[in-house]
Amino acid sequence: MKILITGGCGFVGSNIAIFLKKRLKKANVCTFDNLFRKGSKINMLRLKKLGIKNFNLDIKNYKKIISLGKFDLIIDCCAEPAIESSTKDPDRVFNTNLIGTFNILKKCIKDKANIIFLSSSRVYSIPNLNRLVKNSNISKPIKLKTKINENFDTSGPCSLYGFTKLASEKLIQEFSFVNNIKYIINRFGVIAGPWQFGKQDQGFISMWMAKHIFKNKFSYIGFGGYGNQIRDVIHINDVCEIILIQIKKIKNKYNDIFNIGGGIKNSISLVELTSKCTKLTGNKLTIGKIKKTSKFDIPYYVTDNSKIKKTYKWKPEKNIEQILEDIYFWLINNKKIRKYFK
Ligand SMILES: NC(=O)c1ccc[n+]([C@@H]2O[C@H](COP(=O)([O-])OP(=O)(O)OC[C@H]3O[C@@H](n4cnc5c(N)ncnc54)[C@H](O)[C@@H]3O)[C@@H](O)[C@H]2O)c1
Repeated sequence: MKILITGGCGFVGSNIAIFLKKRLKKANVCTFDNLFRKGSKINMLRLKKLGIKNFNLDIKNYKKIISLGKFDLIIDCCAEPAIESSTKDPDRVFNTNLIGTFNILKKCIKDKANIIFLSSSRVYSIPNLNRLVKNSNISKPIKLKTKINENFDTSGPCSLYGFTKLASEKLIQEFSFVNNIKYIINRFGVIAGPWQFGKQDQGFISMWMAKHIFKNKFSYIGFGGYGNQIRDVIHINDVCEIILIQIKKIKNKYNDIFNIGGGIKNSISLVELTSKCTKLTGNKLTIGKIKKTSKFDIPYYVTDNSKIKKTYKWKPEKNIEQILEDIYFWLINNKKIRKYFK
């Protein structure tokens, strides 16, 4: 089987590429990436060491994409994933995330290839997620047990990033309907683990740990600046495991949408995250407060994994402590990557 991973030098793409190379011995795995994201070059070197070829090209360039040869499966991990880029650089978000998917689908038709698409929990309506938590200044810990399933409202505003993901999902369904492409759409919540060059608006778990290790300044941002907002977190290894299962079963299980995340056991507020990072690093830092909330920020998101669990008899294995330990040791043991977090 020939597998192409787009955005393959990013956090998710590179980890999937390496995982599949090791676990699907007969598969031929290669990637493309324009190395736009900080840290992607380092990931490219990890791929190279294992004999995984990366083509340095832009997902907007359809002519170059079709020149890559024929594939059986495309795992689409290419995106501008930072939410705040929705306002800072909307053209790039739109072109990479939506025109990019369009190009990948044309390639799928040409190759008769199937597609696994990395979508996001950000397709869900921001106003309706905001309504889950009564107060916009969250001064006390949130006690909710609500989980978000695939039927949560997608009709409201969800940032340009969320829109491009939702529109990509619709494009995939249209192309599949007409051209018999098999697809799987995975709406992931927060993914974390080693080799994520995290920043404030994307990859905050590794960023948070790095701030603690290197004793850098940072702040709780939004919802009054108390740090009580909650997310669930899934380890990248669990993401790789479920994608491998999906690949193995795609002949029989396809054309479906799944929410996938760490679930309620792996949900954590920023205050709790601080406490766990302090314990691991031994560094107790003073954290600033920025009260103002971005229009795109949400107070609470915890994944309902019921559908993915039932369909594939799978569940995430790594708990929040293991996720944080893996990130901690990755940062401590790799001196070359430290500059990316300063
Ligand atoms: N990381 C998460 O928590 C998370 C959660 C939900 C969904 N996702 C989705 O998973 C996918 C991968 O996310 P990630 O965290 O690995 O992001 P990432 O930024 O680490 O990886 C994306 C890669 O795409 C490349 N890229 C960007 N624009 C490109 C272009 N125009 N042409 C070619 N390559 C380009 C970047 O250089 C980068 O290496 C994305 O589709 C994202 O929306 C991620």
